[in-house]
Amino acid sequence: MQVHETIAGLRAALKSAGPGKRVALVPTMGNLHDGHIALMTQARGHADTVVATIFVNRLQFRPGEDFDSYPRTFQADCGKLEAAGVDHLFAPTEAEMYPRPQGYHVVPPAEQDGILEGEFRPGHFRGVATVVMKLFQIVGPDVALFGKKDYQQLMVIRNMVADLNLPIEIVGGETVRAGDGLALSSRNGYLSAEERAEAPHLNRAITKVVAAIRAGNADFAGLERDAVAELTAAGWRPDYIAIRKKTDLQLPPAHESGLVVLAAARLGSTRLIDNLEV
Ligand code: PAJ
Repeated sequence: MQVHETIAGLRAALKSAGPGKRVALVPTMGNLHDGHIALMTQARGHADTVVATIFVNRLQFRPGEDFDSYPRTFQADCGKLEAAGVDHLFAPTEAEMYPRPQGYHVVPPAEQDGILEGEFRPGHFRGVATVVMKLFQIVGPDVALFGKKDYQQLMVIRNMVADLNLPIEIVGGETVRAGDGLALSSRNGYLSAEERAEAPHLNRAITKVVAAIRAGNADFAGLERDAVAELTAAGWRPDYIAIRKKTDLQLPPAHESGLVVLAAARLGSTRLIDNLEV
């Protein structure tokens, strides 16, 4: 695996790989786990050349969020990417990505940016869309892969690509979970042993909502309220449990099909998210 810190170095390497080669991009912020690696493996099936990126993007963190403490495990990450058969790793410094304060941004429309994660992390998706657009311009991929774990992020990227006519295929990867159902996340490392034992409750709570919907319960507001109450009673501070349309994450009319249940909740000082398609 070739490791590049500069945009020029990466571009030169991709150019010399030859024309006609299909390039897949998997952007990450590092601290890689099996969820990230599953995307790398899936990428291999879509392209001749797989490019991973590791960049903890300051632009998508709010003041007071965990930008400074976000786990940085570069050496271990390199070993995992190498083992997964990734061809190129682009791991720029902040000065390389943001040599001056970013002036132009990609701003998702309010109906995507202002709901769910966007409501609780204002400006987050503007930071994500902007850095992903930059990575698209830097790498020039034919296909890019994103996890369904970050369901709203995947939707924002899909819509950005459609609205801005980017010639890039977007592929979603299924959420990879621990044996007890907890979605793998770099932030799971913040959990104490006691919190880690409680953490799968988030997945159990939304699994229950999915089962109820499948069984014909169409009282979506009631189901959301019950799940919030159950988690709150167990010591969580839920931001939202929301039953939404898969396509645009807007509120569904009753008896709508094509639903997804999304959740975000704090356990101690750690904020976890999860979702399940119905
Ligand atoms: P990060 O949280 O590192 O995630 C990188 C990619 O891995 C994302 O597409 C995410 O959805 C996916 N992923 C994370 N956990 C997963 C799991 N358990 N199963 C499957 N896929 C999983 O998401 C970001 O970084 C950033 O916002 C980024 C897109 C890199 C822009 O900065």
